[in-house]
Amino acid sequence: MSQPENESGLPFQEKVVPELLKHRLVTPEEYLRIHKKTVENYQEYWESVAKELDWFKPWEKALDDSHPPFYKWFVGGELNASYLAVDRHANSWRRNKVAIIWEGEPWENGPKEVRKLTYLDLYREVNRAAYLLKEVYGLKKGDTIGIYLPMIPELPIFMLAAARLGVAFTVVFSGFSAQAVADRMNDADTKLLITADGGWRRGKVIPLKEIVDKALETATTVKNVLVVRRTGTEISMKPGRDAYLHDVMSKVPIKAYVEPERVKSEDPLYILYTSGTTGKPKGIIHDTGGYMTLLHNTMKLVFDIRDTDVFWCTADIGWVTGHSYIVFGPLQEGATEVMYEGALDFPEPDRWVSIIERHQVSILYTSPTAIRTFMKQGEQWIKKHDVSSVRLMHSVGEPINPEAWRWFHKLVGRGQVPFGSTWWMTETGGIMISHMPGGYLVPMKPGTNGPPLLGIETNVFDEEGKPMPEEQKGYLVITKPWPGMPLTINKDPERYVKVYWNKFPNVFYAGDYAIKDRDGYFWILGRADEVMKIAGHRIGTYELESALVQHPAIAEAAVVGVPDPVRGEVAEAFVILRSGVEPSAKLREEIVKFVRENFGPIAVFREIHFVSKLPKTRSGKIMRRVIKAVATNSPVGDVTTLEDEASVEEVKKAFQELK
Ligand code: PRX
Repeated sequence: MSQPENESGLPFQEKVVPELLKHRLVTPEEYLRIHKKTVENYQEYWESVAKELDWFKPWEKALDDSHPPFYKWFVGGELNASYLAVDRHANSWRRNKVAIIWEGEPWENGPKEVRKLTYLDLYREVNRAAYLLKEVYGLKKGDTIGIYLPMIPELPIFMLAAARLGVAFTVVFSGFSAQAVADRMNDADTKLLITADGGWRRGKVIPLKEIVDKALETATTVKNVLVVRRTGTEISMKPGRDAYLHDVMSKVPIKAYVEPERVKSEDPLYILYTSGTTGKPKGIIHDTGGYMTLLHNTMKLVFDIRDTDVFWCTADIGWVTGHSYIVFGPLQEGATEVMYEGALDFPEPDRWVSIIERHQVSILYTSPTAIRTFMKQGEQWIKKHDVSSVRLMHSVGEPINPEAWRWFHKLVGRGQVPFGSTWWMTETGGIMISHMPGGYLVPMKPGTNGPPLLGIETNVFDEEGKPMPEEQKGYLVITKPWPGMPLTINKDPERYVKVYWNKFPNVFYAGDYAIKDRDGYFWILGRADEVMKIAGHRIGTYELESALVQHPAIAEAAVVGVPDPVRGEVAEAFVILRSGVEPSAKLREEIVKFVRENFGPIAVFREIHFVSKLPKTRSGKIMRRVIKAVATNSPVGDVTTLEDEASVEEVKKAFQELK
């Protein structure tokens, strides 16, 4: 994972110019000249993009910035995200074009299920689902629903159906536990929760309905549960509360039509929860008009989407990448896309390559962790298949190391396909930084992210809020409002201001370390706060500490993120046991199992250490910085604020004992 360095100490500067799209190639200087104009007149620029969407009513003002940081884009405009993603195409020549090629996980000499939905099919299904929500469950604009589904077509269908009614939705990743479901339902006041009997993952069933039953013991706003039958698992149904989708749907007319609600540009489309440094996950609320405008721009510029393409984003819709680049982004463009239900390497490591070959995927959007997993499994799995349909690739979620970049570029990109690492986050709504930042391609540099997109202004600041000199590490910030930015944090506007807008006045603080190089390219180096990226999943150290102390044997816990060759980062925990409890290897295993069950399987530990004290400040705050230094073999630094210096030795000892 080490990055080669040049004499300036910066990561490697090799520039790669791909064969394909050479005609679109511009130098970084040329690009930055064009870029400068679009940020100087950013409102005008974004208006020119928004004009390409279909609005029911045009906006009166591009940006309402009268109450920063609560910006509102395209004020006075009315539109509907479901109409943009479905109706427009179903009423055009794309009517019979395939929208979604869905492939289920089960495999028997080939995929057992492949379902193709045309835009007309999608239109029918979305209308019928909207009819159900409206007529049977009485949902209307201003309400919120919860969705806890595996990667099956019902997931995008219900997201689009809710959007059609102006009903906000919150999707919970199907790998999360009952506690996470309950917290999110309570925070978002959801009335209806849509789930499935179970979901397939690596040939096993995740008992989703059982998890929901447990969650609803404490999620009191949910009055009804709608269950999709997916795995045929036996489940319990609570009369009056629960219903099978196929039962209620049988009463909905085949050609049901629900008029799309005229929602205001600044009306919420969805709430998506994401981890922070302290407390509960934050419910990021995205608007409708700004978000759809940003997605349109990024699909066009970064993915160069065309009607002949087959687009595949390998993320799960439970995360923002899936919201933006499986549901609203590609469908708004009328694209054909692949949606895959299960693990990329199930039942064999070449499942994902076989999907590329069988469905002729031309644009691939995946993650560094996936790439490093494929790398470990070996190139022979890729070589079994023809990947020549791929013409463009990007990765997302965490920094990509140059070795992984080169390996994937050579094997899947045949050494000639544009391949970038797009930087963005749940809060930004869509891609901010990329090697295809303006529909042009700038020369690629393995391991970097590229320049900001047209209309987007980013920078690297020092601790005082001054721009860092080029090639020096600082904090990544976004210095101009952009469409797709959050409206706020659900029920907590103060937290929204505090987390993102307080560190530096009037600029958005992303929480990442970054370097801007001489070409104006950004190198995002990782989180600057106490948030981990485990296999690209964003998890607060605090969240795992809370999960750990729920175990009856644990009195106190501290968690830090440490580098991992495949997952980018994993968790390392230091725990103090309750008095009378003896440390043992068995207990260690039990704790890992406990956290995976209570938090979710995305919690991956390198190790759990038993200690008798933790490094704390005199006011009792755990000094994770010190623990992290020990766990990563780096200098511990200033420890003058420590309450008890012996705690550092204790952590060191525990760490060395296990090595
Ligand atoms: O640390 C950055 C990292 O992922 C964080 C955002 O996580 P999340 O909200 O879960 O969204 C992930 C998918 C958009 C960022 O603060 N990150 C995301 N993309 C990259 C990245 N780090 C380096 N390179 C990237 N391409």
